[in-house]
Amino acid sequence: MDLSFSEMKISEIYKLMTCMIVPRAIAWVTTLSEDRLVNLAPFSAFSIVSYDPPLLGMNFSKKEDGSRKDSARNAARSGELVVHIADETMLDLVHESSFPHPPHVSEVELLGLALESSAAVSVPRLRDAPLAIECRLREMLAFGKSSEFAVVEIVHVHARDGLIYDFKIETTDLRPLSRLAGPVYGTLGPVFVKRPPTGREPE
Ligand SMILES: Cc1cc2nc3c(=O)[nH]c(=O)nc-3n(C[C@H](O)[C@H](O)[C@H](O)COP(=O)(O)O)c2cc1C
Repeated sequence: MDLSFSEMKISEIYKLMTCMIVPRAIAWVTTLSEDRLVNLAPFSAFSIVSYDPPLLGMNFSKKEDGSRKDSARNAARSGELVVHIADETMLDLVHESSFPHPPHVSEVELLGLALESSAAVSVPRLRDAPLAIECRLREMLAFGKSSEFAVVEIVHVHARDGLIYDFKIETTDLRPLSRLAGPVYGTLGPVFVKRPPTGREPE
């Protein structure tokens, strides 16, 4: 089967891209509204952009009426957000935090999640997430009418005690969630340690 993207509808392209590029890490993002309400939502079109400087990137699709989602609007206004990495015990919370609510409703309050102050940004972090990555917005890049790509710089990381050792994390300790297509999620499954291509033993 061959598919020419120039002949496909945006809805078809979205479906196919999100089925092809799997599994995806999930950025579980807190932002602060103008009224200082903490907004929470997951974003899985998310990846590392650069190590030096330490940049992450995520896609914010626009709503059907062409306006920004609350997370994108808050991040663009305040220039700050916190990306959390959720573990597999948090599946229902991650999923439910994606349900649309008006801007005056805080998903954090609705879901009964505890907050802590962040160290370097004014947006609070989720207390119980294994990793909270405090970020400042570097660029909000517009692509077409329906989405934007936020490039954010990591300024501080808060990790659950014992999770980071020698600047490394055992993924089997983190047990991150991933997103597959639609409302389908993945968990870690078996992991395989291979000899690196240099011939050295894995560190
Ligand atoms: C696991 C998961 C991943 C998601 N990834 C994205 C994404 O990459 N980009 C996006 O615009 N929406 C994504 N969504 C949808 C948003 O989370 C959803 O639109 C949410 O209501 C946005 O909330 P906000 O208006 O409070 O920012 C995802 C939803 C789920 C459940």
